[in-house]
Amino acid sequence: MLIRRLDATRLDDCLALAASREWSPEPHKWTLLFEVGDVWGIDDPDGGLAGCVVSTRYGTRLSGIGMMLVAEKFGRRGLGTQLMKHALSEAGTESTWLTATSYGRPLYERLGFRAIGESRIHLGEFRPPAPGTSRAASTRDLAAIGDLDREVFGAPRPEVLRRLPVFAERLRVIEGTGSIRGYGAAWRNVDYTVIGPLLAENDGMARDLIADLAAGIEGPIRLDIDDTHPELREWVESQGVGRGMRTTVMVHGASLPGDRDRLFLPLSVATG
Ligand SMILES: CC(C)(COP(=O)(O)OP(=O)(O)OC[C@H]1O[C@@H](n2cnc3c(N)ncnc32)[C@H](O)[C@@H]1OP(=O)(O)O)[C@@H](O)C(=O)NCCC(=O)NCCS
Repeated sequence: MLIRRLDATRLDDCLALAASREWSPEPHKWTLLFEVGDVWGIDDPDGGLAGCVVSTRYGTRLSGIGMMLVAEKFGRRGLGTQLMKHALSEAGTESTWLTATSYGRPLYERLGFRAIGESRIHLGEFRPPAPGTSRAASTRDLAAIGDLDREVFGAPRPEVLRRLPVFAERLRVIEGTGSIRGYGAAWRNVDYTVIGPLLAENDGMARDLIADLAAGIEGPIRLDIDDTHPELREWVESQGVGRGMRTTVMVHGASLPGDRDRLFLPLSVATG
């Protein structure tokens, strides 16, 4: 079955495939993925999609892969493996990052991905006192955000950062002398708001940014916290937000670039 690049006219087919695997339909997120990533799909001869996967390239150094879905009726016929092989080779980056469900993990291991930790969804009503140490970002901050992001993330993601002020509901920075020391964004997804990406010098600064971002948000908040930041996880749990679904963080190729100690939250688990 032929793998082809999908454009945004196939958004509804992607949402339908996700819904068929009991993933919530996330049009806002998918719209961004179509803009910044490569959406690969296999058509179902009876209409709609048999499978899809999204790869987002950050130059030649790093890519993130996510939204790997195969319709149940096409399961265990090798479509998932073919899609992942295709996404990997088309990205062609030194490293590839993803987070795997228990369904996907064996498949990814066979293709050479190795587990480097776990990520947990934390989702709940969450309003820690806001210290006000951050301020809303303006267009004048975008160059500094780009510089910091490239250093910490370890690969350029101008396509993502250019869209972030519109994609996100809130974008805040913590200032340093002549530069910024951290930034964080919050974006609306279906019936909750995701905080991420979030980069900070240390745990305290990450907590301040999260609390300032959360103060302006209505409804539940989602944070995807990996093992690199156990103190952040403990703090969130101490605020009454428990651990949700677990995924395995995996990498293919070279070790991840950048300064991962300062990368507290991903934009999404589909992109890194
Ligand atoms: C995970 C997922 C994408 C796998 O898709 P898939 O097309 O079934 O994957 P494959 O067919 O390539 O491989 C799955 C299994 O089928 C086996 N398989 C592949 N071709 C086969 C064939 N012709 N006959 C029998 N078995 C076969 C593979 O060896 C593999 O075995 P394992 O599960 O025992 O390790 C799919 O189950 C899915 O969409 N799940 C829900 C969403 C999800 O969790 N996505 C992953 C996010 S990280």
